[in-house]
Amino acid sequence: MPTEDGSLTLVHPVFGEAYSSRHGAWMQASELYLKLTQTQLHPSPRVLEIGFGLGMNFRAALESCVRRGVYLEYLSYEGFPVSREVLEWVEVPLSDPVQAIWNGVLINWPTHPQRPLFLGGSWGSLEVRYENVTKAVYPTNWASAIYLDPFSPAVNPEPWKPAVLHQLYTSSQPGAYLATYSVAGRFRRDLHTAGFAVKKVPGVGKKEWTVGRRV
Ligand SMILES: C[S@@+](CC[C@H](N)C(=O)[O-])C[C@H]1O[C@@H](n2cnc3c(N)ncnc32)[C@H](O)[C@@H]1O
Repeated sequence: MPTEDGSLTLVHPVFGEAYSSRHGAWMQASELYLKLTQTQLHPSPRVLEIGFGLGMNFRAALESCVRRGVYLEYLSYEGFPVSREVLEWVEVPLSDPVQAIWNGVLINWPTHPQRPLFLGGSWGSLEVRYENVTKAVYPTNWASAIYLDPFSPAVNPEPWKPAVLHQLYTSSQPGAYLATYSVAGRFRRDLHTAGFAVKKVPGVGKKEWTVGRRV
């Protein structure tokens, strides 16, 4: 289905929610995840994402980094990957070099994901680990930005649990930013308990978003 900025998204058949904001899938990737985590300013961003989904956030981060000529390291966890056909269907206008990298993701996207997908080049690297985030192994002191992007806590509570938030804290560098669309009170309290400084910020197409910072 088209979102308000013309980019496409999809409703998950089991969770019953859209993969991206209906107010704009590309807008959400750019305004929420890229900008609120300062990825678009960082000289060598390391992004850790919960929920690769349709790869919208990856493509927005990559477009920004390729344009700036900075090296991007992107590590994403995805427990219920979509098929290559679905990824192909959700097109967004990309610059030629970024489209070429995305084509590489599509070609290498596994039919039966078991081992992680790893792609690298002069632009940086992408690793997608097809793991449930509640059981995954995370790097330590690694991420400069965390994109916390599962479905909402109401329908998809596991990735928002304190144990996962604690893992996200230990996997981030001091000063790292975390961004998400949810402002659920319990989640924000748990994020604070995990060690992040937490604040609500004005959203686009939604009243508020949440930003955390590892201090
Ligand atoms: C809102 S979508 C992510 C959209 C994506 N970030 C993008 O840019 O297109 C949420 C994703 O989280 C994944 N997910 C939900 N629960 C998960 C879990 N426990 N472990 C790993 N992935 C999970 C879903 O399969 C889905 O792809």
